[in-house]
Amino acid sequence: MADKIPPPTDQLAAVPLDNAGASSSTVHKPWSPSRTRIRSILGRPDGGAGLAGQKVQISGWVKKGRGQGKGTFAFLEVNDGSCAANLQVKVDASVSDLSKLVTTGTSLTIDGCLKIPPQGKATKQKIELSAEKVIDVGTVDQHGKTPYPIPKTKLTLEYLRDHTNFRARTTTMAAVTRIRHKICLAAHVFCDKHDICYIHTPIITTSDCEGAGEMFQVTTLINQSEKLEKDLVKNIELTEAEETLAKVEDRSKIKPGLLLPRKDGEIDYSQDFFARQAYLTVSGQLHAETYACSMGDVYTFGPTFRAEKSHTSRHLAEFWMVEVELAFAGVEEAMNCAEALVKDICKYLLEKCLDDMELMKNVDEACINRLQMIALTSFERVTYTKAITLLKEAVAKGKKFENQVERGIDLASEHERYLTEVLYKKPVIVYNYPKEIKAFYMRLNDDGETVAAFDVLVPKVGELIGGSQREERMDVLMERMEEKGLPIKEYEWYIDLRRHGTVKHSGFGLGLERMLLFATGMDNIRDVIPFPRYPGRADL
Ligand code: 4AD
Ligand code: MG
Repeated sequence: MADKIPPPTDQLAAVPLDNAGASSSTVHKPWSPSRTRIRSILGRPDGGAGLAGQKVQISGWVKKGRGQGKGTFAFLEVNDGSCAANLQVKVDASVSDLSKLVTTGTSLTIDGCLKIPPQGKATKQKIELSAEKVIDVGTVDQHGKTPYPIPKTKLTLEYLRDHTNFRARTTTMAAVTRIRHKICLAAHVFCDKHDICYIHTPIITTSDCEGAGEMFQVTTLINQSEKLEKDLVKNIELTEAEETLAKVEDRSKIKPGLLLPRKDGEIDYSQDFFARQAYLTVSGQLHAETYACSMGDVYTFGPTFRAEKSHTSRHLAEFWMVEVELAFAGVEEAMNCAEALVKDICKYLLEKCLDDMELMKNVDEACINRLQMIALTSFERVTYTKAITLLKEAVAKGKKFENQVERGIDLASEHERYLTEVLYKKPVIVYNYPKEIKAFYMRLNDDGETVAAFDVLVPKVGELIGGSQREERMDVLMERMEEKGLPIKEYEWYIDLRRHGTVKHSGFGLGLERMLLFATGMDNIRDVIPFPRYPGRADL
């Protein structure tokens, strides 16, 4: 007989914040039956009051601790990362040595009983934990060579960038991290709802998707050559006695890089790991196209890498992108899909993490309004030509831009933001860009001058999404590649898709970190990814 699947129990169900109030007891994870997440206490509509009298075990880190009553007890504000709120824990000196507990950053596991604290005017807590037993303590080394970098004083985001191993212990960074998680989920839910199949495109690639040459090379030749050089030097030391002085001198002249394998004066990549040049991907699009041209609608969602020396607050060298590719679809359908995706993400955040979004109002008062506005408003759509006309009109009326406005320019962030923040005050999709400023794969329009490309511009950020209809005509595609000076031979596999069963298809890429900037109101893209990589910095 087949094993019966056990019915779901309170123990197995994860409690979403919104319906936590439905239960009169706290809920544990099936893999840790003793630990109660602070979210499942404080995230209830009653703020946890309905749990008074229950015994729970909580774990977390002390955000703030203070001794009270001449050292007879202490109040600890404990956070476990499950929500922004801290649980107040009252510990009597008879339960534990208080001096070991009160330092900010100390980790704790505590058994206790939930109680309603005496309600005075200043009391914020609906519930507190009265400690009965301190099970575990991870103290903070206050005298060692590296002090705990997250004291309770307010810290700047710049300072925190130097401490990425600890910055998620701050309220803002933890909230951003939870919102990031929800945006990723929202994208997956959206695609699943619309039968867009998740595929994994490679991180290591041999094709330059954007054809812009901004790729990080992946090679083992340099490590190999370094190792060889070290071995040689070692060898010289060992055999010194036997060698003639001249030979030793010869070898010691070896300079780094000299031992890279070469053929006809060039580096011989046939001896590299992949027997050819390889790179970190700048976009999974070309690979996604191969699957769209078999599976219909697909998406890829992963890290992408660009070796451009951009030091702006909107560029990273490693960022994440949701890339949707739709078969049998033109540019308009791709625009519709992109708009629907952004709207769904906004709705999802309003529904699933309003508490963290409320917290983000400390950073940007307007962030929740912005999500509501986007969820409900139709995006404006204007051609590139119209956008240029509008920007020129603005200049004529006295608006000053750092970058000159003229037909043929790639819109700068200031132009994009002017269109979306000042002129339309809502998201704007600009489409039909001049072919010269866009990638080779974008479909040439009948005018022979523009391509069916589009960018979704949003307030606060500028470009959030870039997309296009793809050139499905083999001859036109090859002409465009030639125009751009791309090595056709390397893209034969991509051209083959046009050779065999070509279809109209379109797609776009949404930058995850740009979406986070937009949603949270954070100013710098380096603060919305756990471990930012940008020119000059790749900590940890
Ligand atoms: O406009 P991009 O370069 O488009 C592509 O990569 C296409 N292959 C996507 C596709 O059609 N499948 O990049 C798409 C988005 C941008 O709109 C922006 O949000 C983000 O990716 N982005 C960056 N985010 C952070 N740092 C960077 N250096 C970024 N470059 C692009
Ligand atoms: Mg772009």
